[in-house]
Amino acid sequence: MRLDGHDPAAIESAAERLAAGELVAFATETVYGLGARADDDAAVDKIFAAKGRPRGHPLIVHVVDRGAAIPFAARIPPIAARLMDEFWPGPLTVIVPRASGMATAAAGGHATLALRAPAHPVAHALLVAAQRHGVTGIAAPSANRFGRVSPTLAQHVVDEFGEALPVLDGGPCRIGIESSIVDCSGPRPMLLRPGVLTQARIEAAAGEPLAAADDSAPQAPGTLEAHYAPHAKVRLMATSMLHTALQMLGGQPMRLAVYSRTVPSGMAPGLRHRRMPARPEQAAHELFSVLRELDDEGVQLIWVEEPPPGPDWDGVRDRLTRAAAT
Ligand code: TXA
Ligand code: MG
Repeated sequence: MRLDGHDPAAIESAAERLAAGELVAFATETVYGLGARADDDAAVDKIFAAKGRPRGHPLIVHVVDRGAAIPFAARIPPIAARLMDEFWPGPLTVIVPRASGMATAAAGGHATLALRAPAHPVAHALLVAAQRHGVTGIAAPSANRFGRVSPTLAQHVVDEFGEALPVLDGGPCRIGIESSIVDCSGPRPMLLRPGVLTQARIEAAAGEPLAAADDSAPQAPGTLEAHYAPHAKVRLMATSMLHTALQMLGGQPMRLAVYSRTVPSGMAPGLRHRRMPARPEQAAHELFSVLRELDDEGVQLIWVEEPPPGPDWDGVRDRLTRAAAT
């Protein structure tokens, strides 16, 4: 059920629900989240059950600000503190050593915990109201079933979980792909998931280079090879290969869609085509919506032009590569 996230009464009733151990979905600037109070393992378990997500795959705990993050951490490493200062509230998640006994189910039993302070006014209002009810952290993965495309509209969440779940509608998510995740719990900071913040910006704030993610990180959904998958099969193609393939197409295949920045001359006239924006922020903003719309149109195969090289496209490239890996 969609609720107006800018209505204080809706925020208050959502906060009451959270305090009572129930689930609430809400807008953030990245994607919609499916939330439960982080200090209640039984409430958090409802998230894993609803998503069909394995319980060892840890969730992000959302907090109102750095002060609210401190009790969840065994300590805040200096790099994590610098990243929080620079990017919170915003699309950055930091992984820190977990305070023992805190958010155990949300952490999937791991010794570390992912923390983020979202910037979206609806998420922020919910966190402030929840705090008044004694809820200092909201565990929330993206509000989609395990392995599927993350939701960037309230309606996407309703499509995933049905009408019974309250969804605080905050409009289309401004960023559109999930937060960047930096693991600050080890000797070197590690980028576990790229987002819209470029590696260069994160490194400048951290004051040191990010190590490449390695196998010591816990196996988790965003790091699985196949993820963010629509029902249609996604094929990621280099520009020249895409153009050649399109020129070789005979007739007008009904179930194929093309999502590309460039359009080859001589593309079959009635072919379903969506133009990928030239700017990476715009492409990230619409990516998951486009994949869902093509699914809704009954498309079975999506040919996607590879994004251009360069770090600005890392977030979009990462999501497309995983969507194509099924
Ligand atoms: O933008 C976002 O981050 C959204 C919004 C709702 O905040 N949330 C989100 O959550 O994308 P989720 O659960 O779909 O992805 C969380 C990712 C997982 O892929 C997992 O790899 C990583 O966070 N993660 C969480 N805790 C971790 C930990 N202790 N160590 C390593 N990775 C962790
Ligand atoms: Mg997710």
